[in-house]
Amino acid sequence: CVDISKLTKETGLFTYDSGYTATASCKSAITYIDGDNGVLLYRGYPIEQLAEKSSFVEVAYMLVNGERPDAAQLKAFEAELAEEAGVDASINTLIGSFAKDAHPMAILAASIAQLSAKYHASLDLADAEQRRKAAVRLIAKVPTLSSLIYRHGQGLPANTPDTSLDYVSRFLKQTFESADGKYELNPNVVKALDLLFILHADHEQNASTSTVRLVGSTGANPYASVAAGVTALWGPAHGGANEAVLKMLEEIGSADNVESAVLKAKDKTSGFRLMGFGHRVYKNFDPRAKVIGKMTQSVLEQLNLKDPLLDVAIKLEQAALQDDYFVARKLYPNVDFYSGIIYKALQIPTEMFTVMFALGRTAGWVSHWLEQQVDPEMKIGRPRQVYTGHDVRDYK
Ligand code: ACO
Repeated sequence: CVDISKLTKETGLFTYDSGYTATASCKSAITYIDGDNGVLLYRGYPIEQLAEKSSFVEVAYMLVNGERPDAAQLKAFEAELAEEAGVDASINTLIGSFAKDAHPMAILAASIAQLSAKYHASLDLADAEQRRKAAVRLIAKVPTLSSLIYRHGQGLPANTPDTSLDYVSRFLKQTFESADGKYELNPNVVKALDLLFILHADHEQNASTSTVRLVGSTGANPYASVAAGVTALWGPAHGGANEAVLKMLEEIGSADNVESAVLKAKDKTSGFRLMGFGHRVYKNFDPRAKVIGKMTQSVLEQLNLKDPLLDVAIKLEQAALQDDYFVARKLYPNVDFYSGIIYKALQIPTEMFTVMFALGRTAGWVSHWLEQQVDPEMKIGRPRQVYTGHDVRDYK
């Protein structure tokens, strides 16, 4: 591991690393990935153990603060999240100004940017407590924004968060409550969503987290930084893959068509990739995909549902894992491969899938932003380029 910034100063050395395949942009103590062995740790804890024993709110606290909370700290954190869940009426006006069929990720980015307008002037970034509060506020408010965005798209009136409920139940009730105040919380749905949020909470320097850090490195406020993270997550090569997977499975339609889909994905001229397959860092398996794979079947059983897309997904996974093309390139299912089937079972519309990802990932984004603010080595992120344009020429 070489510190290029020192070498550059001493030797004039210049590196070109398109896509940052071998360049660390920061030091971080939050999340560890061993891509060759399929290991993912949050603050040192294996993702499988957190998925089994923890809750999203506990994980969020730990990502932000470095250690797991004791019972009193967890209770206080839950209370703070409830207290901060509300948003101003101006947010409803903003969301209401979008077309009903506008993509929810566009509205989410805009409404988080709106929070930045509200809090920018009063936020003193040099004050640690104000920074922490901003981070907690984002974790608290993104579910509320997501509910409002869903309801706008469905033509439902805006609803307010019920602060007597836990984090996930509050989101579900605000989202799905009918006009006459009816929504029956199903503990299986609450548990499944909580688990998905844990699995999405952080993933070190992925494209959206790196975006949050790059914007944060300029001194921009955390709301602006996270709004940028949302837009980076939207792309189908990143968080947008969960939406793309479901569309792909629907297009494939039946297990009989899986073979031709695999053939098409291997044909570089087709422009088609198996969405939900492959990862920049995992060259073995994605441990999150293993947890979700197991969970998909049990969620469908608990909800008494049968989704033919699950058969298509299982056949596709089996076919790809036995295919030389995918084996040679170490392409395995990633976290997005099965998550869409679960979101669909939870009655979340396809275009909201990436919003669900953003909701969980907000905990990671704000933790990285907080960590960056106290990093003594933090500099403005400013990559260089290899210039390929004209030599100097005269303007005549
Ligand atoms: N289907 C078919 N071929 C693929 C796929 C795929 N899903 N993914 C990679 N390949 C092939 C590439 O064509 C390339 O082949 P080559 O070596 O013959 O040229 C090789 O595998 C390596 O692929 P790269 O694109 O160079 O790998 P990179 O690390 O840059 O990209 C990425 C990783 C973006 C995840 C890629 O695998 C992909 O596009 N997957 C589908 C989208 C997806 O699921 N994204 C979610 C990622 S997880 C997340 O962000 C939450």
